[in-house]
Amino acid sequence: VPSDQAFDLAHFIQSIGRKADLPQDPVERGRRVVETRGCFACHVIEGRGGKVGPSLDVSAQKLHYGWAKEFLAAPRKHGKIYPYMPYRMPDLGLSSEEIEGVLALFAKVAGRAYPEAAEPPPAAAPEAKVKAGTLTYVLKCAECHNLGTVIPLVEVKRQGPDLVEVSRRVRYDWFSKWVADPKAILPDSRMVKTNLTPEQIDEVRAFLWTVSGAELEKAKGTP
Ligand code: HEC
Ligand code: HEC
Repeated sequence: VPSDQAFDLAHFIQSIGRKADLPQDPVERGRRVVETRGCFACHVIEGRGGKVGPSLDVSAQKLHYGWAKEFLAAPRKHGKIYPYMPYRMPDLGLSSEEIEGVLALFAKVAGRAYPEAAEPPPAAAPEAKVKAGTLTYVLKCAECHNLGTVIPLVEVKRQGPDLVEVSRRVRYDWFSKWVADPKAILPDSRMVKTNLTPEQIDEVRAFLWTVSGAELEKAKGTP
């Protein structure tokens, strides 16, 4: 589906706004939502679909359910995620039942449990490790990723998502697999292999989780 038609389809689906009979089984319900709400017009899911938005087969492995739930309930409240994608996600007015179905389908696709025990927050990293990670970040990641106001990058140079909310959005274990070899997970990814050692990946993760956690705490404090 070409992207302009995908948006026409999304508007059409929004305009019907009917309550479909949804299957009881959460995964089947998710599949129904993907069909009736036209997600596949813009996203690859279970191996098929459009490329207006990111592959949901990858998002299914990557995202914390809590983040995905919030986003799906109000996508327009969120800032732009992928700078190189020209479009934003439309608000399809999904019900919580529909969102639960989508998450159950994500779990099925990624071989995760649903619901899933919350990931325990990683132990505070030693300062030396965070410092080493800062250096790696500046040398290897800052050319493509913005890090909120901590290490900003001019908008035209941004290629990947802002990593300031990475700890709330991305799973801790998945991060290391992704950074080690992005194209093994998403063959047409624009992210390059940065050839870091596992130790360097661990350090850059310690840096990002420390900064992201602190920034999210700060943001909570402001009205
Ligand atoms: C008209 C196109 C369109 C439709 C229809 C659409 N999306 Fe999206 N979606 C997008 C785009 C574009 C983005 C990326 C937004 C950005 O970069 O800010 C996105 C982002 C997302 C994300 C975040 C993924 C990530 O890795 O951060 C999820 C989850 C998502 N969509 C799920 C869905 C589901 C579920 C449906 C159907 C109920 C759906 N989308 C329907 C265009 C669409
Ligand atoms: C050449 C540009 C480039 C470089 C260099 C780069 N990235 Fe990326 N990164 C991207 C792009 C683009 C994406 C989005 C995936 C896609 O659509 O290809 C991404 C995605 C990510 C994600 C997923 C974020 C999310 O919220 O979905 C993480 C985590 C990440 N990169 C970490 C890193 C780290 C750590 C480094 C340095 C070691 C790095 N990246 C270097 C371009 C880059």
